[in-house]
Amino acid sequence: MPAKPRLLITRKLTDAVLKRAARDYDVMINAEDRVFSTDELIAKCQDFDAVLPCHSEHFTADVIAALPDRLKIIANHSVGVDHVDLAAAKDAGVVVTNTPDVLSDATAEIAMLCMLGAARRGAEGDAMVRAGKWDFWSPAFMVGRQVTGKRFGVLGMGRVGQVAAERARGFGMTVHYHNRKPLPDHLAKGAVFHDSIEGLFANSDVLSLHCPATKDTTGIINKDTLALLPDRAILVNTARGNLVKEDDLVTALESGKLFAAGLDVFCEEPGGNPKISGLKNVFLLPHIGSATEETRDAMGFRALDNLDAYFNDREPGDRVA
Ligand code: DGY
Repeated sequence: MPAKPRLLITRKLTDAVLKRAARDYDVMINAEDRVFSTDELIAKCQDFDAVLPCHSEHFTADVIAALPDRLKIIANHSVGVDHVDLAAAKDAGVVVTNTPDVLSDATAEIAMLCMLGAARRGAEGDAMVRAGKWDFWSPAFMVGRQVTGKRFGVLGMGRVGQVAAERARGFGMTVHYHNRKPLPDHLAKGAVFHDSIEGLFANSDVLSLHCPATKDTTGIINKDTLALLPDRAILVNTARGNLVKEDDLVTALESGKLFAAGLDVFCEEPGGNPKISGLKNVFLLPHIGSATEETRDAMGFRALDNLDAYFNDREPGDRVA
């Protein structure tokens, strides 16, 4: 029997995923479940044929250049691949895969939680009750914005954006979106296409970000684009922190230009941004868009499906480089 390929799994995955991985691969796991430093990541990779990382491991051009010749596939446990230098991987002949589709429902749920948490002042109310400081009630108390009948703007109507749009329709919202190209009718489901971000932003009472982080989208939410939104709009970000210039977001939240923001992702992770957490009109989560039992299993299985294809001389279904 040929030896099993050696697989490095960089973070703690579910029992079911680890069981399947151990059945088919000679696996090493990161029992401490902490992020490796760059040097550690390079050193750990030396003895492996494949690596299954998360978005927390950064495969920069330097890291890729230091990978051993035998390691020819990075099978990510994430849909986002901005932590991998895809051009460097391609040049080095290293295959890169991701895990699309399987986290769309979970991430769209978190987008709705962020939207409602921001619109209805969820964090403020929760903190008040928990702290034993709820000592007053009146019709004028803790009044938020209702999303029913409002416009839900989707920047990046891919898989997650489409599910988020579907959920927003359930709240009686109309959907607007911007993509490079309009979607076919059966996917757009009546959503209004805008061929520019100016058009989308002007028509978004809630703007929800669902585009990947690339050099073109980094900082796409900034003082100029925030100014395009209707007054008292709500920003939701469950995609990547660096889509947003956080200082400009703070200014818009402080001035009241934005009513609130619901954020699951930040430029600095883990940790977040103290200037944002110091504000009342934000609802914040620690990058848990895909963190459900069901989705964690599905992401791990999908990464293993990609590895299985690669090691059985088939094209991995989710190859991105
Ligand atoms: C993803 O899949 O990109 C999520 O952000 C979790 O890594």
